[in-house]
Amino acid sequence: MPEGIRFAVLTISDRSSRGERADESGPLLGRIVFEWGGEVVLSEILPDERAVIRAELERIADGGLADVVLTTGGTGFAPRDVTPEATKDVMDREAPGLVEAMRADSQKKTATAMLSRAVAGIRKATLIMNLPGSPRAARENLEVVLPALAHAVELLRGGVGDCGKP
Ligand code: MTE
Repeated sequence: MPEGIRFAVLTISDRSSRGERADESGPLLGRIVFEWGGEVVLSEILPDERAVIRAELERIADGGLADVVLTTGGTGFAPRDVTPEATKDVMDREAPGLVEAMRADSQKKTATAMLSRAVAGIRKATLIMNLPGSPRAARENLEVVLPALAHAVELLRGGVGDCGKP
């Protein structure tokens, strides 16, 4: 695994940002990342505001503050679900395989998994991935992509690696 993979966890929720609902998904993702061997360098709660989300993603990626940004929430069909749009605003390159894998796996577990509009992409050397908002959904989706993340970060840092082959 590449040295010190740094994660930022952004919970995107109007209600949690106003203090009306406890954020369970952000801390849960942080624990999973920590147990996996990653370092959570930033965790925040943001409202479902496209410009606010976009600005924070830009700040993190352009400042080189994290290797991976995980967002949780705001990927569904509700009028204020704009996390994928904010992510698309800032990405230089798409990484569709990650969300394809997440939805394919989730669909086996939950009939509504297809309602997640999550996207993943790269800005500069930072990978940004959207996860759904509920703690269970966020965990299930993150667990699908974790096995590929070390190699992803290695490549983002300019390494060649061996695609995990023995
Ligand atoms: N994926 C998994 N693995 N498990 C789930 O329970 N819930 C779905 C979907 N993806 C779910 C899931 C539902 S009900 C919705 S509406 C979308 O994620 C979007 O969730 P969000 O709006 O909280 O981001």
